[in-house]
Amino acid sequence: MDTIEREILSNRLRSWILQAGKLIRDKINDPLTVSTKSNPKDLVTEMDKEVEFFFATKIKEFYPNHLLLGEEGYGHAEINKTDTIWIIDPIDGTMNFVNQKQDFAVSIGIYHQGIGEIGYIYDVMNNTLFGAIRGNGAYKNSVRLPSLKNDSISLNESIVAFSHRWLMKNRFVNEKTMQQLVVDVRGVRSYGSAALGFARVAEGAIDAYITMRLEPWDMAAGRIIVNEVDGLTTDIRGKEIGLLERSSVISGHPEIHDRIVKKYLRKAVKRSAR
Ligand code: 2AM
Ligand code: CA
Repeated sequence: MDTIEREILSNRLRSWILQAGKLIRDKINDPLTVSTKSNPKDLVTEMDKEVEFFFATKIKEFYPNHLLLGEEGYGHAEINKTDTIWIIDPIDGTMNFVNQKQDFAVSIGIYHQGIGEIGYIYDVMNNTLFGAIRGNGAYKNSVRLPSLKNDSISLNESIVAFSHRWLMKNRFVNEKTMQQLVVDVRGVRSYGSAALGFARVAEGAIDAYITMRLEPWDMAAGRIIVNEVDGLTTDIRGKEIGLLERSSVISGHPEIHDRIVKKYLRKAVKRSAR
């Protein structure tokens, strides 16, 4: 994909994601039909589907050769990693969308031949757009985000984000080790949106985001954006995550990522965890 092609694609995506956000904001107080998917906490609304359909239609019209992998099923059944793929989470943080009407995001990553080229995360209610083109740095609205490498930071000065459920007995990690991490860092946050977790890592508001199970669309954009500020994203053992894999994730400042993986997560991970 050449530079000009990427620039046009990025501009189109930016304009579509802003349109999708406006669509959501305009209907934010309308009554919602909420359904559950894999479990009672895994929610979906007609808005999730409407937003994914909006992108599916645009992609079909403007880029008929591109593939779509989407959370809500408007994508292609067969995904070939060598093609250009749009990986879309129409609403990341659906529980926040339903219960709180804020702190959710539209999250889209475009990959070409397996490489992340363009990523956008739109914090809809705050009208804040995080974006990156590979090799061109990451932006929060029009402001370029500085490299995380410029700042050295120790664990006791850092803020990490993860769900409270990893502090309770669970099948992925030993809760005692996770509790020790809480003691050792400056602060812990839980946002309820993976995409916003990555965005906050990228802007340096938090130093790591940790979760035990994400789908490809939860991380597709976030990985590209964090990478552009020299942050690291791996599974909790420190291994690279495949493009189409479901995985645990730690994304963060390079020093903090390394420290948390080595000192906590590798010890905490249960053998039965996938
Ligand atoms: P979603 O809102 O798009 O489903 C919540 O802690 C975060 O984890 C959200 O980003 C949510 O994405 C993601 N997540 C991924 N798989 C999930 C699942 N099976 N149930 C609930 N949240 C899930
Ligand atoms: Ca979603």
